[in-house]
Amino acid sequence: MTSDDQKRAVARAAIVYVRDGMRLGLGTGSTAKHFVDAIGEKVKAGWRLTCVPTSEATRKQAEGLGIAVSTLDQTPQLDLDVDGADEIDGDLNLIKGGGGALLREKIVASSAAKMVVIVDASKRVEHLGKFPLPVEVVPFGVKATAFKIETACKSLGINPAIVIRVRNGKPFVTDNGNLILDCACGRIDKPASLAVALSVIPGVVEHGLFIGMASVALLGSDAGVSVLTRKVP
Ligand code: A5P
Repeated sequence: MTSDDQKRAVARAAIVYVRDGMRLGLGTGSTAKHFVDAIGEKVKAGWRLTCVPTSEATRKQAEGLGIAVSTLDQTPQLDLDVDGADEIDGDLNLIKGGGGALLREKIVASSAAKMVVIVDASKRVEHLGKFPLPVEVVPFGVKATAFKIETACKSLGINPAIVIRVRNGKPFVTDNGNLILDCACGRIDKPASLAVALSVIPGVVEHGLFIGMASVALLGSDAGVSVLTRKVP
């Protein structure tokens, strides 16, 4: 099985959590794209779903499939959010934002009664941090903000390499008009502490640590799809 086969398999398996009439958050990325395709099939079959996309890319895909697209202003409370991740640990803590959509993804996930994460086997890690942590920042004072992020990381024993994300030779600009700092942290021993430390830095709009948000993860592998459930303390 290729990783794309695994992504398609977990995306299709996630349909079991969806019921006719639900208000749904639609994630962003190559795995979530398969889920949106599967939702499009349900809509064609007559299901009535109200869907809030987490990016302009997902909104365009959903509209192209005839899915009724809403906004969080129109639909502030969702029943379910289904999204991919760049890394997931055993507590279902995540790194997200590889596609740059982390801010809307987190707002949407936090507006849903349940978040289901869909990932291929390569995303499962013992410790978060191999994937550079994306942090969305306002353009004003970006270097000062990066310095504060570095200081916050160091206070937790992390010595990050921080770069402004560049795509096609230009700084990557998010759907919200902000920049992304990719922070190569290495092993993050205390993700919840790092999340809090980053959140209080002026200029940081949001970071890609999703702590305690996912309740279920569907993990693809050559053997099929397995279900991980967060142990609620
Ligand atoms: C988008 O900003 C990300 O959070 C994605 O959900 C994440 O990068 C996973 O993407 P893939 O499904 O393409 O691996």
